[in-house]
Amino acid sequence: MREKEVAGWVSDAQNAFKAAQDLDQLKVARLAHAGDKSPVALASRGLGAMTPDEKSSFGKIIGDAKTAIASALANATATLEAARDSKILLDEIVDVTLPANRSHKGGLHPITIMKNEISDFFVNQGYSVQEGPEMESGWLNFDALNIPGDHPARTMQDTFFIEPLESGMVLRTQTSPVQIRTMLTSEPPIYIISPGRTFRADELDATHSPVFHQVEGLVVDRAITMAHLKGVLENFAQAMFGADVITRLRPSFFPFTEPSAEVDVFFNGQWIEWGGCGMVNPKVLQNCGIDTQIYSGFAFGMGVERTLMVRHGVTDMHEIVEGDVRFTRQFGIGL
Ligand code: DAH
Repeated sequence: MREKEVAGWVSDAQNAFKAAQDLDQLKVARLAHAGDKSPVALASRGLGAMTPDEKSSFGKIIGDAKTAIASALANATATLEAARDSKILLDEIVDVTLPANRSHKGGLHPITIMKNEISDFFVNQGYSVQEGPEMESGWLNFDALNIPGDHPARTMQDTFFIEPLESGMVLRTQTSPVQIRTMLTSEPPIYIISPGRTFRADELDATHSPVFHQVEGLVVDRAITMAHLKGVLENFAQAMFGADVITRLRPSFFPFTEPSAEVDVFFNGQWIEWGGCGMVNPKVLQNCGIDTQIYSGFAFGMGVERTLMVRHGVTDMHEIVEGDVRFTRQFGIGL
């Protein structure tokens, strides 16, 4: 009778351990069937009150039952722990080949990147970067550059005038006034580059923007010749468009240079007009109090948008102006 009862406890324990779905359920089953208050534990404690005969026969039965229950518990524990571990491995699986979740923290506009690139190129050769104001006096923007009062560029069709008109102030139409500012405030030798924003009364279309950027270069030193200009432009063009690009100068006219030229680059199989240049007109040097018996100089000016459009095959100015990140991201962050 007793034996049957003990065998029932063992099979109850074995069934309960087997039925446990996880380690938590197993813990409940363990307390019930192998804990201090489980039937075998209570029976085991009752052995003390038995006679030596009873004790030896019943003690063995209880001992065997305990062993059987402990081994069922150990099996169930091992099985459920293994199940837990493999579930964790699955849940926490990391696919290291997935693309990283990148966050875009912003970057510089491609025009700014290009301005910096141009400045770096010239700074590396000892030039300094000069800036001038975007609102400029008409005298610096035009007269000092030998652009006469009746020049067509000086009409409302082309230039933004600042009110009141008597102020004589304009939004600079070119970066060339920075040449004048530099020559008025420093002595030769002068080697400067001046990238900046410029303004003209143009409608925004595929090739024009009322707000755009130029980069101006000015060198004034002893015995400067057009050969120096040509060499500087050639190197500059190669830095911008690639080592195999070639340049040519075409005669042209600017009031502030004499002689004047357009500089073209041969890029992607065709000649492309890049910018203007020339030897600084002696009248301009004299306007700035520079002795033309001792010094001569050259100057050049390029559109930054134009340079970017040519180099990267951008066909619509809107792309540059609108600042859509789907466009700008292609140029990197430029930091
Ligand atoms: N400022 C001229 C323009 O806006 C470009 C230019 C031409 C600048 C010749 C120069 C130069 O310094 O020498 O069209």
